Amino acid sequence: MNRIFSGVQPTGNLHLGNYLGAIRNWVTLQHDYDCIFCIVDLHALTLPQDPVQLKAQTREVTAAYIAAGIDPEHCVIFNQSSVPGHAELAWLLSCLTPLGWLNRMTQFKEKAGKQREDAGLGLYAYPVLMAADIILYKATHVPVGEDQKQHLELARDIAGAFNRRYGVEFFPLPEPMIFGTATRVMSLRDGAKKMSKSDASDYSRINMTDDAEAIALKIRKAKTDPLPLPADEKEAEARPEADNLLGIYAALANLTRQEAIAKFAGQSFSGFKTELADLSAEVLGKIGGEMRRLLAEPGYIDGILKRGSERANAIAKPHMNEVFDIMGLLRP
Ligand code: TYM
Repeated sequence: MNRIFSGVQPTGNLHLGNYLGAIRNWVTLQHDYDCIFCIVDLHALTLPQDPVQLKAQTREVTAAYIAAGIDPEHCVIFNQSSVPGHAELAWLLSCLTPLGWLNRMTQFKEKAGKQREDAGLGLYAYPVLMAADIILYKATHVPVGEDQKQHLELARDIAGAFNRRYGVEFFPLPEPMIFGTATRVMSLRDGAKKMSKSDASDYSRINMTDDAEAIALKIRKAKTDPLPLPADEKEAEARPEADNLLGIYAALANLTRQEAIAKFAGQSFSGFKTELADLSAEVLGKIGGEMRRLLAEPGYIDGILKRGSERANAIAKPHMNEVFDIMGLLRP
C-alpha cells in the first residue's frame, strides 16, 4: 500500500488554512493509504519557543488531528522528537544537499527577513529535516497546502541525490498531494498574504478552536471590496479577498469553486458573510468542542503519542539501519 506522511508544526494557533489545506484532506485519504501523521516539534524549534507552551501545543495539535476525524487506531500519530531517526537522517541528508538548493527556498527568505545573518542554522536547514521526515518512512505521498510545494520538490531532489550518490533505488520520490478548493487560504485582512499561525492580527485568521461568536465577528470584519459578489470565475480571480472567502465557502460546503461562485453571484457580501460564518461555526464548532474534550484528558493524548512513536520507530529503525549500511557507517 502507498504510504502518506504529513505534519503540522505545534506553533501558535491552528487555523482554518491548516484544516482546509491539510488536515481535512488527510481525513478523506486515511483509509486508502498507510498513514503517518506527525506533530513536527523539532521544526517548531527553528524559531524560539516557550518550552511549556510547546508541550501544550503538541498536545493541542494531536487533539486537532483526532477531533477532525483522524483515526488513531488506523493511522500513526506521534511527535517528531520521539523518533530519533528524523534528526539522524536530517544530518546524513544535509551532507548531500548543495547550499544552492537551500538558497532557493522562498520560505527561508520570508521568515529570516532582513536579519539574514541572525537567522538560525536550523531555519536554513529546515527543508532538509522535512525531507528526512518523509523519506525516513519511504512515504510515497505527501498531502499538504500549496505553501509546502517548494519544500516537497526539494525533498524529491534530496531523495534522488541519495539514490544517485549510492547507486541504489532506496528512497521513493514522494509525490505532493495538493488538492481541494482551499489549498492556499489567505488572511482575512489582506488577500495578498496567506493565513498564518504567526500573524499578529487575531482578525486575520479563524482558529480551529474559535467559537461561533468569534468566527462571526472575524468574517464580518473580513476585508472585501464594495462591489457585489463576483459574477463568474474570471471576475473572482481578479478580486482576491472575495475569491478567498468563496474558496473557503466551497471547501466547507463541499462545492466546487465554480458552484460556490454561481450560488452567490451578484449578491451582497452581508448575506454571504452570514452564511459563511454559520457554516464555519457548524464545522469548526464540532471539532473545537471535541478538541476541548480531548485536551481535558492529557493522559489519553499522551498515550496516543506514545503508542504512535513506537509504531513510527518500528518503521523508521530498520530503514535507518539500511541507510547506515548503504552509507558505510559501521554498526559494530
Ligand atoms: P505548517 O505547520 O505551516 O502547516 C501545516 C499544514 O497546513 C498547510 N497550511 C495551509 N494550507 C492552506 N492555506 C494556508 N493558509 C495554510 N497554512 C498552512 C500547510 O501547507 C501544511 O500542509 N513544513 C511544514 C510541516 C512539515 C511537513 C513535514 C509537512 C514538516 N515536515 C513533512 C509534510 C511533510 C509546515 O511548516 O507546515
